[in-house]
Amino acid sequence: MTSPEVKNTPASGIRAVANAAWARPDAVHLEFGEPDFDTPAHVVEAADRAARTGQTRYGPSAGLPALRAAVTAKLARDNGFPGVTPEQVVVTAGGVGGLFAAYRTLLSAGDEILVPDPGWPNFSTIATILGAVPRPYRLSPDFAPDYDELETRTSPRTKAILINSPSNPVGYQWSIEQLGQLGDWAARHGLTVISDECYDQLWLDNPAPTFAVAAPEVSHVTVFSLSKSYAMTGWRVGYAVTSPELAAGLARVQEVTASCVNTIAQHAAIAALTGDQQCVAVMRAAYRERRDVALAAAQRLGLAVTRPAGAFYLWVSSDVEAQRLLNETGTAVAPGEAFGSAGAGHLRLSLAAATEHVVRGLNDIAQL
Ligand SMILES: Cc1ncc(COP(=O)(O)O)c(C=O)c1O
Repeated sequence: MTSPEVKNTPASGIRAVANAAWARPDAVHLEFGEPDFDTPAHVVEAADRAARTGQTRYGPSAGLPALRAAVTAKLARDNGFPGVTPEQVVVTAGGVGGLFAAYRTLLSAGDEILVPDPGWPNFSTIATILGAVPRPYRLSPDFAPDYDELETRTSPRTKAILINSPSNPVGYQWSIEQLGQLGDWAARHGLTVISDECYDQLWLDNPAPTFAVAAPEVSHVTVFSLSKSYAMTGWRVGYAVTSPELAAGLARVQEVTASCVNTIAQHAAIAALTGDQQCVAVMRAAYRERRDVALAAAQRLGLAVTRPAGAFYLWVSSDVEAQRLLNETGTAVAPGEAFGSAGAGHLRLSLAAATEHVVRGLNDIAQL
C-alpha cells in the first residue's frame, strides 16, 4: 500500500500542462524553467575526460573534495561569501537534492516549515512527502516579505522558513537589508532559514545578495544549483552550504538516498565552476534581453506583468486558463495556481525560450 505521505503529495500542476503539450507536436513550450542553451563545451569535455580516465566510481557522500573546494572558491568569487570551508559544503543532486536533504535534516514528522505563496511547488511537496507540514505564507503585493503574515503562520511546531531569491515564479530579488531583517526575525523565532539561491547567477539588474552574508550569525542551509546558471539541468548537480554540523546531517541523508552524486557529473561541475565564466555572462545577457523584449510586448498588448529582477520567468496577471490556452493556441505555460493559492489568476511564462516564442505566447494570452 502506498503510504499516506506519498499519497498526499500532489503531482505538479505544471506537469499536467506539459504532458498535454508533449502530445501536440506544434506546441510552443513556455511551461518549464529550462535553459534552451546547450551545456558549455568545456564542461561536456570535462565529463568526457572523466569517464574515459576511469573517474567512474563511488565518491564521498558529501561530494568530491575538489568540487567542494571549487564551491568555496566560487562562493568567494561570485557571492561575496569568503571563508566557507569544504566541511560546510555538501554536493547534491541538483538544488532539489539539497532542499530534500535540508528538510530531512531539520524536520521531523509533524514539524512545520514556512514556504512562500506563490512559490516553487516542491517547497511544499518535499515537506508533505516527509510527513512534515508546509505552511504557505503570502507576500506583500510587491512580493516583499510581510512580517504580520509570517507571525500568523508561525507556531510552536515551526522549525524553518524557506526563502527564495531570485524567486520562482515572480523573479523577486531580496535586498541585503531585507535578508538581514529576515535573519533577525528567524533568529528571534528560533528558526533555521533555508535559502534557495538556485538562480543566484541569473540576476538581471544587480547581483543577488546571499542570505548567509546578510545574516552571518543565523542558522541557515543555503541551496545552490548548476542547473540554471550553466544550462546543466540534466546533469543533476547542486550544492548546499551550512554549518559543519548540519552539513554532516545533509551528507547522512545523501548517503542513505543516493550514496553520492554522479561522479562524472561532479567532474563536469568542477570544470563549470573553475572554468571561464563568460558562458554565464552570455546566458544572463540573453535572458535580460528576452525579459526586456517580453516586457515591451506585454505593455503593447496591455497585459499586466511583474518585472522580474532575476531568474527567467514572466508572471502575468490573467484569468485565461493554461489548459484552454494550450487547447486553443498551442502555447503551453504554467498555471499560476500550481505555485500556491496566491497564484490564482496568473500564468508563468518561461523566458528561457526563444524570444519569438515568448512574444507569441504573450500575443496568444492577450487574444483569448
Ligand atoms: C526555485 C527553484 N529551486 C530549485 C529548483 C531545482 O532545480 P535543480 O534541482 O535542477 O537544481 C528549481 C527548478 O526549477 C527552482 O525553480
